[in-house]
Amino acid sequence: MDGSDIGIIGMGVMGQSFALNIESRGFTVSVYNRTESRTREFVEKRAKGKAVVPTYSLRDFVYSLKVPRKVLLMVKAGEAVDEFLRMLKELLEKNDIIIDGGNSYFKDTERRSDWMRREGIFYLGTGISGGEYGALHGPCIMPGGDKEAYQQVEEIFLKACAYTKDGPCCSYLGPGSAGHFVKMVHNGIEYALMEIIAESYHLMRDGLLMDIEDIQDTFEEWNKSELNSYLVEITGKILEKRDKVTEKPLVDLILDKAGQKGTGLWTSKVSLDLGVPVPTINGAVNARIISGFKEDRAKLSDKLRGPLIHNGREDKDNFISLLRRCCYICMLLSYAQGMHLLKVASEKFSYNLNLSEVARIWKGGCIIRARVLDTIKNIYVKEQNLPNLIFSDELTGILNEQISALRHILIKAVTWGIPVPAMSACLNYYDSYRAKILPANLIQAQRDYFGAHKYERVDKKGFFHTEWQKIG
Ligand SMILES: NC(=O)c1ccc[n+]([C@@H]2O[C@H](COP(=O)([O-])OP(=O)(O)OC[C@H]3O[C@@H](n4cnc5c(N)ncnc54)[C@H](OP(=O)(O)O)[C@@H]3O)[C@@H](O)[C@H]2O)c1
Repeated sequence: MDGSDIGIIGMGVMGQSFALNIESRGFTVSVYNRTESRTREFVEKRAKGKAVVPTYSLRDFVYSLKVPRKVLLMVKAGEAVDEFLRMLKELLEKNDIIIDGGNSYFKDTERRSDWMRREGIFYLGTGISGGEYGALHGPCIMPGGDKEAYQQVEEIFLKACAYTKDGPCCSYLGPGSAGHFVKMVHNGIEYALMEIIAESYHLMRDGLLMDIEDIQDTFEEWNKSELNSYLVEITGKILEKRDKVTEKPLVDLILDKAGQKGTGLWTSKVSLDLGVPVPTINGAVNARIISGFKEDRAKLSDKLRGPLIHNGREDKDNFISLLRRCCYICMLLSYAQGMHLLKVASEKFSYNLNLSEVARIWKGGCIIRARVLDTIKNIYVKEQNLPNLIFSDELTGILNEQISALRHILIKAVTWGIPVPAMSACLNYYDSYRAKILPANLIQAQRDYFGAHKYERVDKKGFFHTEWQKIG
């Protein structure tokens, strides 16, 4: 045998599943993990009898691979990646390829690409989405980096990724950190969609006083509509689940403190750096942060008054129909914000992203796969250079028709005192973007008043300063 087709380092949740997926497509896969026992257990159980080659030293791992070697890192993002790069560069040879398949921060990927290039090693920062199931059965793969190197791993990626009627959910996205940037924004959109769904659940639960079965049925129905998506689908399934011991809905027994690993926060931070408004993603990140203040919330729930309006006296069918339309446009506006960020980043970092291709590969395998991506993909196929999706005739048509549903739902949420940070961010985004005049004139006057920052005028060109006060 002349060596394995690919090697995977990191036998965690993703690494194991992806190794089995690639092996099932006819490739031989070498595996290595820092903790030996994990590799041993994997080859003795899940990978038993399969073309998976276990290795217990990094040297053996590297020498077990076909040249040029293809090494896929599926380890915890951060220092672990750098540690492996330090060790691998001593063992790999010129033109070998390292693929980082974890959720690495794009600036780290940029630095690592330059570092490995100096060592003569190709580097592919590659986003992989779909969780454990996707990794095993077909994820969405977002590769970026050296194109020459991508061409050498393309066959493996195209055989292992998910497919839709529009083709494989894998496409070379661009140089440097393009793949990890797109994956980061994918996760930012994921935060927004999850929060929109959670807010809908909250409104049904505490606004309409619906029981869990009824809410579950609603999400199942929604999944047959324009809201059809992985996240809506799994929400229905989650609500169905009962605790084995108490037989209560499991969701009611789960502590309401949301965790996060950082990709949503990164998206928000980068959007601020690049000056791109993504308020729904920011709202979703903040919602997770505030959920963490559980003890404070419990104390304040006794101290701070809410509205005195009695909930539950609503025409339920009408409300649910409005809520469905509201979710639809909130989802569209979340994708619009993420796509806008990708467009600006693509120009700033010379990624040369093809946004219709991004929307196309997101249609399958990944967590944000949704029917609405068909509409988004088609818009970008027709108009590649749109400054923002909301400029497209198709989207303005939908927004004009449906926006009243969002207004109606927000009025109810405010009346009932139910927080809807992502949904309200969507309406503020919409109303700000369509506002010919914003009160930024007053902001400019304030800035000039205290800081002599100057302002522009609507009636003549140039920058002006006014002596607003006597300084002394
Ligand atoms: N889970 C998901 O749904 C998902 C989806 C998409 C992307 N990702 C990304 O994929 C990557 C792997 O995720 P996972 O869920 O498979 O993680 P996991 O199950 O927690 O496994 C982590 C892996 O990283 C290794 N590791 C951690 N710290 C290390 C260190 N300091 N030095 C060497 N090895 C170290 C672990 O080795 P030991 O066994 O020795 O601890 C293990 O192999 C992450 O970047 C993650 O963000 C995950």
